[in-house]
Amino acid sequence: MGQSATARAHTNIALIKYWGKKDANLIIPQNSSLSLTLDHFYTDTTVTFSETLTRDQIIFNGQEADEQTQTKMSQFLDLIRQQAGRSTFASVETTNHVPNAAGLASSASGYAALAAAGSRAAGLDLNRRDLSRLARRGSGSATRSIYGGFVEWQRGRNDQDSYAIPVQEEIDWDIQMIAIVLNDRKKRVASRAGMASVVATSPYYPSWVETAQADLPKMKDAIIKKDINLVGQLAEKSAMQMHATTLSAVPPFTYFEPETLQAIEVVERLRQQGVSCYYTMDAGPNVKVICTSRETPQILAALAPYFTAEQLLVAKPGPGVTSL
Ligand code: PMV
Repeated sequence: MGQSATARAHTNIALIKYWGKKDANLIIPQNSSLSLTLDHFYTDTTVTFSETLTRDQIIFNGQEADEQTQTKMSQFLDLIRQQAGRSTFASVETTNHVPNAAGLASSASGYAALAAAGSRAAGLDLNRRDLSRLARRGSGSATRSIYGGFVEWQRGRNDQDSYAIPVQEEIDWDIQMIAIVLNDRKKRVASRAGMASVVATSPYYPSWVETAQADLPKMKDAIIKKDINLVGQLAEKSAMQMHATTLSAVPPFTYFEPETLQAIEVVERLRQQGVSCYYTMDAGPNVKVICTSRETPQILAALAPYFTAEQLLVAKPGPGVTSL
């Protein structure tokens, strides 16, 4: 008889970005970060440990995962096995509820769901702090997806003290995001490789860490004040300073594509017209617009000449990881 558990985790978008590792093996970040968990994009994962399996079996959206994913997820399951003191293999079934080819990070929701389902299936009863620490080992951004709403990942110094804490789980004010899903045609630099490159080669990297650390308490203040403009300004600054480290890396690289600049231009134009909207972007070309629900129809209308309705996905704040 196998032991089985299912969990759901939502993705998150950072407002103060995590960008650069201090310890690549333990995934200890150089700087603390702060994100908003979203309701629209999530992952459901079922883990079943079974004596009859001769290896881990990973099914992704109904299909066997590629070898690289298999290896990475098996190594993650090893961490769970170590903690639980067992050696049984597991089958993992994961469904990503993220629009196809959206290029939106599913590693955050993916590893948060795997940490929750896997640990429970293995008989561990982890609290949210320990779940966050475990999820961190799969993907840095997953550290934050354990909680809903606004979440801070405190960088810490080691495996024990690098984890996320909730900043505001129940959000009673008007903030949401529009994800603009652009063409994902170019080969991208994976976030892992991108981070390693900027830490090693960008002369601006030390300033990035300093600014991110200084802006994080300002972002928390802006959230407490429910000040969408301050939240947006700080988020934009964090995103662009992160991307400046890629332009200043040796060799330089960028996640920008022509459509990225088009989207940014629309957001800036709207702002000049008095609409409160701000952009952010991660290790890919997609742009996310931070705005209120009240102004969303106007923003969608301004984006409509450039992007199809399928490319514009509205997301509200979402919950933390749950057992299903
Ligand atoms: O943990 P990863 O590999 O998904 O890296 C995430 C890095 C960014 O998305 C660019 C920033 C962030 O804080 O989520």
